[in-house]
Amino acid sequence: MSRLIVVSNRVSPPTGAGEETVGGLAMALAAALRQYTGLWFGWSGKTVPAFTGALDTQTIDGVTAAVVDLEEADLDEYYNGYANKTLWPLFHYRTDLAAYDRAYGAGYERVNRRFAETLAPLIGPDDLIWVHDYHLIPLARELRKLGFRNRIGFFLHVPWPAHQVFTTLPNHGALVSAMFDYDLVGFQTLEYQLAFEEYVLSEARGVQLTANSLQAFGRTLKIGAFPIGLDAVDFARMVKSPRARRMCDQMTAATVFRSLIVGVDRLDYSKGLEERFEGFDRFLADNPDMRREVLMLQIAPVSRESVEAYREIRGRLDALSGRINAEYADVDWNPFRYVNKNYRRDELAGIYRAARVGVVTPLRDGMNLVAKEFVAAQDPADPGVLILSRFAGAARQMHQALLVNPNSPEEIADALKRALAMSKLERIRRWGQLFENVQLDDVTAWRDAFVGALACANVSRAALAS
Ligand code: F6P
Repeated sequence: MSRLIVVSNRVSPPTGAGEETVGGLAMALAAALRQYTGLWFGWSGKTVPAFTGALDTQTIDGVTAAVVDLEEADLDEYYNGYANKTLWPLFHYRTDLAAYDRAYGAGYERVNRRFAETLAPLIGPDDLIWVHDYHLIPLARELRKLGFRNRIGFFLHVPWPAHQVFTTLPNHGALVSAMFDYDLVGFQTLEYQLAFEEYVLSEARGVQLTANSLQAFGRTLKIGAFPIGLDAVDFARMVKSPRARRMCDQMTAATVFRSLIVGVDRLDYSKGLEERFEGFDRFLADNPDMRREVLMLQIAPVSRESVEAYREIRGRLDALSGRINAEYADVDWNPFRYVNKNYRRDELAGIYRAARVGVVTPLRDGMNLVAKEFVAAQDPADPGVLILSRFAGAARQMHQALLVNPNSPEEIADALKRALAMSKLERIRRWGQLFENVQLDDVTAWRDAFVGALACANVSRAALAS
């Protein structure tokens, strides 16, 4: 039987019940791998003075992880550089923040080559290889160069931008050409798939063979939309855990006679945090009679702090949150709690359950699993309301949320007012449909759809030899 080899930049095998604080990608991959024989390969998160390619392998909770250290220059040029200063801002429509530096591009190529060479001895002839996210787009090309003909799939967790945005990337053709070394490329939504198709057809003079296959660069590629979901079973268990219950009780006690509004995001400029804070500010300004009836809690653990844009936004958010409290707080009360700490997922589940409103308003987001976790954590008899950005991939599935333009503090303020005033009947009706979708389109459905499509991707590798 063929094994599944998952490759991603970050490798975070589960450490035990609920204590993980890692992001959506890592949780989804851990859940996906638990059902398959195989391994998860990627970066250890550590650096060494010179790259050795030595593998550290361990099996935790049924998942075997093999990780490799990178060297300092790799961290600067590949992770902080090309991945997070070039591709991340570009894919999230922040061309103003995207840095173009040939050293970053070279570092990106080098690390992808190193990953391929380190992984090579672990690959069996029938193994399926599933590569994840923008850090590793050229990995299949490097593996093909080493002679591998295995089926290799790629899943992009972040948005694929519109043609005009993507073409601001110098040497964009080379990146897309490398994607044609995969057998299958998956996107979070049909919208991203169509944006990719448009690029291939108009810029690379490709040909659409069927609704799900393209020909370009002398090769054929299967593509598709595979919206990622939650590990719904695991999350339901987590919501009932003692730690989640305790956190829920704690938050309920802290908000007696008040409604809790909650946001949970990695501290990233793509998450729309400034606009959200301004939206809350406007809500307080517009609704003096409701001021003492709400508490907004924003949890935003810091991330990628070596990148200047992240340090800058952190400073702006500190100032904004301070200003909101200074403006509206009273001797016995303040409206806003802004926390940069990381919380365990079971604790977050408890916080979500205690909240009347969940605010998920990224300016751009591939999917956003916080939106799904918020829904999964609610009390069916008295659920909270989800306010969701129309520019999160999740909005394509979660139509019963209150959809907003995250660029508009006014719209956010209006949605807060509407959510807080919503009748229980309407909350139950909206939540019921959202929850059904979260359960149905879960991480298992995502994994099975992608792996199933990859297993029958029958692309001829003959052209690759040339
Ligand atoms: O897809 C983006 C993503 O990989 C998320 O899944 C994850 O939460 C985040 O980025 C992690 O970022 P980093 O590995 O840079 O901390």
